[in-house]
Amino acid sequence: MRILSGVQSSGRLHIGNYYGAIREFVRLQDEGEALYFIANLHALNSVRDAAKARELTLETAAAFLALGVDPAKATLFRQSDIPEIPELYWILGTLVPMADLENAHSYKDKLARGAEADFGLFGYPVLMAADILLYDSDVVPVGRDQRQHLELARDWAGKFNRQYAPTYDSQKGTGGLLKLPAARTRDETAVVPGRDGQKMSKTYANTIDLFGTDKEIEKQIKSVKTDSTTPDAPKPTEHQPLYELLKVVFSPEEFAALDAKWKSGGDPKTHGYGAFKQALIDGYFATFAGPRKRYAELMNDRAELERLLEQGAQKARGYAAPVIARVRSAVGL
Ligand code: ADP
Ligand code: TRP
Repeated sequence: MRILSGVQSSGRLHIGNYYGAIREFVRLQDEGEALYFIANLHALNSVRDAAKARELTLETAAAFLALGVDPAKATLFRQSDIPEIPELYWILGTLVPMADLENAHSYKDKLARGAEADFGLFGYPVLMAADILLYDSDVVPVGRDQRQHLELARDWAGKFNRQYAPTYDSQKGTGGLLKLPAARTRDETAVVPGRDGQKMSKTYANTIDLFGTDKEIEKQIKSVKTDSTTPDAPKPTEHQPLYELLKVVFSPEEFAALDAKWKSGGDPKTHGYGAFKQALIDGYFATFAGPRKRYAELMNDRAELERLLEQGAQKARGYAAPVIARVRSAVGL
């Protein structure tokens, strides 16, 4: 089984990225041939400063490694090191219906929020489809918000196969030039809420970061939105980001004890929102202290990061070579 996924290097990573994506990457590297990349071409849509773009690329690579992606098991690389990506992007784009892109929610949402509509943003799903299809991957682990992009990639791969592969059987999925991979999301943590209760996202400035300073993290956790339930009273469980975050960060057994306290109410010192925030701070550091230390070490050894990324790119291009050769030949290049 070949597994592929990527994360944009467009900002600081947060615990939503970990629980929604990177944790799954780490699990999957033991189940097959995993390819993970830093989507730094995608990131150019929002990062328009060269030094920052470079820095964020390395930070994202260090984050993958610190959180457990193991270069001995998985291929870790930078999207921009793969020239076959922009090539496949273009070729696929010649078959992509405008309406698919106009209806893509990433584009519609950003327009609705008043963002500039550049061609890069509009073509984003096509670039992502090139990522997905270039390495003959079988499985693409993504958060729920990315599922539509994966569906589009599958649609366009099918279209490409119907157009260019005479032996393609769309029912059986055999005889194609591009392989249609499956999505994989984990439902229990598919959407991690942010401090304000919306989806956690760097775009909404509601994150709990993975690698800020201890002080910043504590401040972020203390600002998780709660309601006006008195400290001794039982707490509501609906639309409560603090409750959801505790569930995400703690193991089911540990959470069960917190859950009982949450629902019973009691001594304000131990049963108020303040106490639950402190529990979340403790749970956060128990989980991430090791990766945070390793991250700092990696960021202090840029040469080693570079070396690992270059080695990853060579391997990834090896996977890409037969696919791009098939595609070029099929379209007449
Ligand atoms: P952001 O929304 O902060 O810009 P990205 O879109 O760069 O995050 O997401 C990177 C990866 O992390 C994607 O696979 C995405 O599905 C996952 N992810 C991001 N935010 C969350 C969240 N709040 N809950 C679960 N997964 C998330
Ligand atoms: N668009 C994804 C995100 O915002 C990142 C990404 C780019 C990706 N290409 C991909 C994810 C291919 C999975 C497969 O997180």
